[in-house]
Amino acid sequence: MEKHIVILTGAGISAESGLGTFRDVGGLWDQYDLEEVATPDGLARNPALVHDFYNARRANCLGAAPNAAHVALSRLQAEWSGNVTLITQNVDDLHERGGFDDAIHMHGQLMRAKCASCDGRWDAPKVMQHDAPCPHCGAKTTRPDIVWFGEMPYHMDAIWAALDEADIFASIGTSGQVYPAAAFAQQAAAAGAATIELNLEPSDTARHFQQARYGPATEIVPNWVAELLEQTPG
Ligand code: APR
Repeated sequence: MEKHIVILTGAGISAESGLGTFRDVGGLWDQYDLEEVATPDGLARNPALVHDFYNARRANCLGAAPNAAHVALSRLQAEWSGNVTLITQNVDDLHERGGFDDAIHMHGQLMRAKCASCDGRWDAPKVMQHDAPCPHCGAKTTRPDIVWFGEMPYHMDAIWAALDEADIFASIGTSGQVYPAAAFAQQAAAAGAATIELNLEPSDTARHFQQARYGPATEIVPNWVAELLEQTPG
C-alpha cells in the first residue's frame, strides 16, 4: 500500500534562502515586538507599522530563492508513489517557487492580502499601503492575509485529516513553540505514523519524534528524500 507522507515546515527551511527565522538569535522577534506587528490590536493601533513590517518581509521574499531543501520536497512530491501533504507555517512562497504544488499555508501567505472589514481576498501588491481601499468593499482596512497570534490558523480540518492518515510525519525547520503546529507530531504518532524531526538542533518537541536528523536543511532534507526514494522506487 502506498505510504502517505505528511510534512510540516517552519522558518528554518527558508533560513538558508536568507529569510529570517523568528526565535533564533537576532531573529524577527528579537527585532520587532510581535504584539505590535503580528496581532489584530497591533493593526488597529498602527496600521502603517504593520504594513511596513510585512512590506519589508515581502521584499526579502521576492529577493530570495528557494534552496535545496525546498527543491528536495518538490522532488519527493513528483517521485513518491504515495501522497505527499505539505503543511507550512511559513508565509513565504519558496515552496511554490521550488516546485511544490498545493502546499497548505496554515499561517497565510505574504503574497496575499485581505480586508479586515469584508474579508475579501486578493493578490497583494509588492508594497501595500495602509490607507489603500479594499478592492471589494472600498474600506481602508486592508491587511496582509496572514494569521496572527490569537487568530485561528487556516485549513485545520484538512490538516487534522492528513495527520490522522499519515504513515510518515516529518517536521522540518520549526522550533515547536507555537500551537497547534507543535502538537502535530503527537497527533500523527497517535494515528500510527512514524515520526521524524529534521532541524538545525533539537526543537522543543524533539521528545515526540521517533527519529531525528540535525543539521542545515539544505543538507539533511535532500539526503532524507534521497533515502526515501531509494527505499521505494517512484
Ligand atoms: N536548517 C534547519 N533548521 C534551521 C536552520 C537551518 N539552516 N536555521 C534555523 N533552523 C531551525 C531553528 O533551530 C529553529 O528550531 O528553525 C527553527 C526556527 O524556529 P522559529 O524561528 O521559532 O520559527 P517557526 O518554528 O517556523 O515559528 C513558528 O511562530 O512566530 C510564529 O507564525 C510564526 O510561523 C511562525 C511560527
